[in-house]
Amino acid sequence: MKFFVDTADTAEITELAATGLLDGVTTNPSLVHKAGRDFKEVVAEICHIVHGPVSAEVIALDHEGMMREAEVLRKIADHVCIKVPLTIDGLKTCKKLSADGTMVNVTLCFSANQALLAAKAGATFISPFVGRHDDNGFDGMSLIEDIRLIYDNYAFHTEILVASIRHPIHVLQSAKIGADVATMPPSVIKGLFKHVLTDKGIEGFLADWEKTGQSI
Ligand code: E4P
Repeated sequence: MKFFVDTADTAEITELAATGLLDGVTTNPSLVHKAGRDFKEVVAEICHIVHGPVSAEVIALDHEGMMREAEVLRKIADHVCIKVPLTIDGLKTCKKLSADGTMVNVTLCFSANQALLAAKAGATFISPFVGRHDDNGFDGMSLIEDIRLIYDNYAFHTEILVASIRHPIHVLQSAKIGADVATMPPSVIKGLFKHVLTDKGIEGFLADWEKTGQSI
């Protein structure tokens, strides 16, 4: 499973990229607002740090406007992935950009039928939002299971990018279902490394090593 980080904070991206485990980045207008930086400038900087897909979202709601914005964004770097909302105009834009060989991430997916439409429109990634699903009393992970089943039934190439991840259990469940990508806030990625028994084990080994009086 690929790991993307869901942030526009370049300091956090640089830190995580140094692990060698980061495969891409997703941003959205709220994350850009949080970063407090110029959108195009921050996307360009992210593209220098990470060489996998970097999602940058259009703001326009109509097809022509989306195409205009996509034109600007895809010029930033070859690995910019245009993020469009799951609407009729978003999928029209997806179909056109995909046919041109541009990567497209279809975002704000909340049903398996929507995911089916995105795959038919040639999306590179479909982003089902599991956390927001859970927040509203639905089962986010069962949505991922349904999409996996449908995509496998028809051998669609669209990758399932699990979004709106809130905690490491979402990551574990995504991996068990066979999702292609998980995009996570930096705190969740860091949380994956942690286990109380790992820390305790290191502590015990170091204390005993100290007693040997040796060095390596
Ligand atoms: C994905 O691409 C989105 O940016 C993101 O995962 C949304 O997550 P949220 O529900 O935590 O805002």
